[in-house]
Amino acid sequence: MGSGIAQLFGQHDQQVLLFDVSKVQLDKATQNIQKNLEEQVGKGKLEKGTPQKVLACIRPVGDITEFKDCALVVEAVNEDQKLKFELFRQMDQVLNGDAILASNTSSISITSLAAVTRRPGKVIGMHFMNPAPVMQLVEVVRGLTTSEATFQVVAGWVEKLGKTIAVSQDYPGFIVNRILVPMLNEAIFALYEGVATAEDIDRGIQLGLRHPMGPLALADFIGLDTLLAICNVLYEGFKDPKYRPCPLLVRMVAAGHLGRKSGHGFYSY
Ligand code: CAA
Repeated sequence: MGSGIAQLFGQHDQQVLLFDVSKVQLDKATQNIQKNLEEQVGKGKLEKGTPQKVLACIRPVGDITEFKDCALVVEAVNEDQKLKFELFRQMDQVLNGDAILASNTSSISITSLAAVTRRPGKVIGMHFMNPAPVMQLVEVVRGLTTSEATFQVVAGWVEKLGKTIAVSQDYPGFIVNRILVPMLNEAIFALYEGVATAEDIDRGIQLGLRHPMGPLALADFIGLDTLLAICNVLYEGFKDPKYRPCPLLVRMVAAGHLGRKSGHGFYSY
């Protein structure tokens, strides 16, 4: 999602540093941004020079010390608590005292992320929906220690990006994933129990409830590893068996069938 978030800031004339430890991923991210923008030019929705203009705002970097003068950092690494804690510790050392450290986490506690830094008042959740340039919502998550001033600054950023805010307190899954993920997990249970085929489950929800995608196609789109990680955060956070991940989801992740990104999930890509 990092590339989509960078694209969004770039399209609003903000100077962005796009960081990844992998040069291959950085190149892929830049190519994705260019491809998305050129598609929009092709449809006549953006002016011809826009991709070059947006890409000129986005500087790929492989060293986090480059962030030292940034006012806002939006972290979007994998849903892995240890990895996020480590990155937050490092970023906290690099950034100046006024900078805000936001996480695009889908479910990991903002309060816990804040607690590993020396700036707990300046840590907040800024949860973009995928694809970030398209989806209207940004879920803003207030950790127990997030200050009102930080919240106001981030609400201002969301407005500048032309998005709409939904404010959540910091409990597992926040608003969107607390409600979405049990639905996707239930669709996987329906497949696992032989209630219907993947195609029929998706058709039922897409046409019967007017969702833009069926739940299994959406699970593949989100990434089955990410979905499983969110299920586990809900299950462990609430200690309620209703959030237990479906064994089929666990088995697919173990097999490396992660959805679109690996080429295999409930569908083949
Ligand atoms: N990046 C940028 N733009 C993209 C894009 C991407 N990856 N994918 C699609 N788009 C754009 C297209 O260019 C197109 O733009 P225009 O309307 O300006 O032409 C528009 O989105 C629609 O795309 P398509 O016509 O190709 O296809 P579609 O109509 O089937 O829409 C979709 C694709 C927007 C992904 C749509 O299927 C959809 O809304 N799906 C549901 C997505 C969703 O639920 N996202 C939230 C996931 S949950 C999450 O993110 C939170 C979490 O923590 C797990």
